[in-house]
Amino acid sequence: MKILVVGSGGREHAIIKKLKENPKAEKIYCAPGNGGISVDAECVPIKATDIDGMVAFAKSNQIDFVVVTPDDPLVLGMVDALNQAGIATFGPTKQAAQIEGSKVFSKNLMKKYGIPTADYQVFSDPKAAMDYIKSRGEYPVVIKADGLALGKGVLIAQNQQEAADAVRKIMEDKAFGASGNQVVVEEFLTGPEVSVLSFCDGEQVIPMVSSMDHKRALDGDKGLNTGGMGTVAPNLCYTPEIAETCMRTIFRPTMEAMKAEGCPFSGCLYFGLMLTPKGPYVIEYNCRFGDPETQVVLPLLESDLLEIMLAIYEKRLTPDMVRFSDRHAACIVLASGGYPEKYETGKRITGLDGQGQVDGATVYHAGTKRDAEGFLTAGGRVMGVTCTGTDGRGALQAAYQAAAKIQFEGIHFRHDIGARNLG
Ligand code: AMP
Ligand code: GLY
Repeated sequence: MKILVVGSGGREHAIIKKLKENPKAEKIYCAPGNGGISVDAECVPIKATDIDGMVAFAKSNQIDFVVVTPDDPLVLGMVDALNQAGIATFGPTKQAAQIEGSKVFSKNLMKKYGIPTADYQVFSDPKAAMDYIKSRGEYPVVIKADGLALGKGVLIAQNQQEAADAVRKIMEDKAFGASGNQVVVEEFLTGPEVSVLSFCDGEQVIPMVSSMDHKRALDGDKGLNTGGMGTVAPNLCYTPEIAETCMRTIFRPTMEAMKAEGCPFSGCLYFGLMLTPKGPYVIEYNCRFGDPETQVVLPLLESDLLEIMLAIYEKRLTPDMVRFSDRHAACIVLASGGYPEKYETGKRITGLDGQGQVDGATVYHAGTKRDAEGFLTAGGRVMGVTCTGTDGRGALQAAYQAAAKIQFEGIHFRHDIGARNLG
């Protein structure tokens, strides 16, 4: 089989490494990919959002299967375009991708079908939004841009002034463009957060092992929000009892709701959950694998990813196809100094072998370039270093030991990934 993976991050690298375990995956392309990915797949310089370019490449290279990984091409309808061209895909249709692409869509879906989520109101007028926030008078209050915003569209305001600043930033300054035409104003919830990725074929929903992301840039959950600075799996807050509740109150009802709305979900549905004193609530849905959650979840997947993806495309997914190891995994993200704000690139990376790896770990490249001498930094998140172990402590120790072998000017990483998960 010839497979094309769309995207360029650590998540895509993890998917490619897993797909390669199946001998049927004779040739893997990645568009656009990165330096580290080029060791495992042939990178082609097509932008991840270039739908026409991707369809043309898939057709002219007789691609059998396309895995569309990032949110933006999914929300733009890349899966629909590929399917119309007769090409098999992994990922939701444009309509189903609305579950991430529009917070108004997902909040209204949850309300209509009784899926637990924070109380909210939707506004398309900034004054009406502020009048509501003032009349409510409860802080913190959460203000979310409706559309995609590179993970930055959620603002938590501690008082009326911060709320007014947030509404202005989203709706008037249009900091996230048209994504801010509408806002969701919602109740602030508290509790541990859990990420649960799941395989869905429109009917079945099969959760993968749970995980914990670390979104803030600095130790102790300080600093700015990032794409994710590290992950561990499983998430020990997520007990079998909670998993059972989530299946009954969130996972199955979401699948049924999407079917009832005429857009059954196929692909990887990511449930961003908060374990509140009132039970598990949905904070957000993503219509795709998480990054860097994928870098700890897929290393624990014992079954064959390509077979699962093909079964999903053919709507014949069954629970016995998805088996996870009972080991633990940890991923430490190595970032460029200054990320998520301004940072420099083009720094020489030392400590990696010719394949971009280190002994005793798997290195998933996120923002690297490759030249004759090795690898250079090319992004904010540069790479994720993943190890597994029989327990969380072992996995973390191994991942930190391996990460310590890698150097580049300005390297930054968190030292407390998974600390909260050790109990
Ligand atoms: P999102 O981009 O939707 O994942 O939101 C980013 C982060 O904001 C989440 O991971 C939560 O930590 C936080 N957040 C979002 N909604 C709420 C809420 N209703 N209450 C408390 N925190 C929230
Ligand atoms: N790590 C969070 C996300 O992928 O959205």
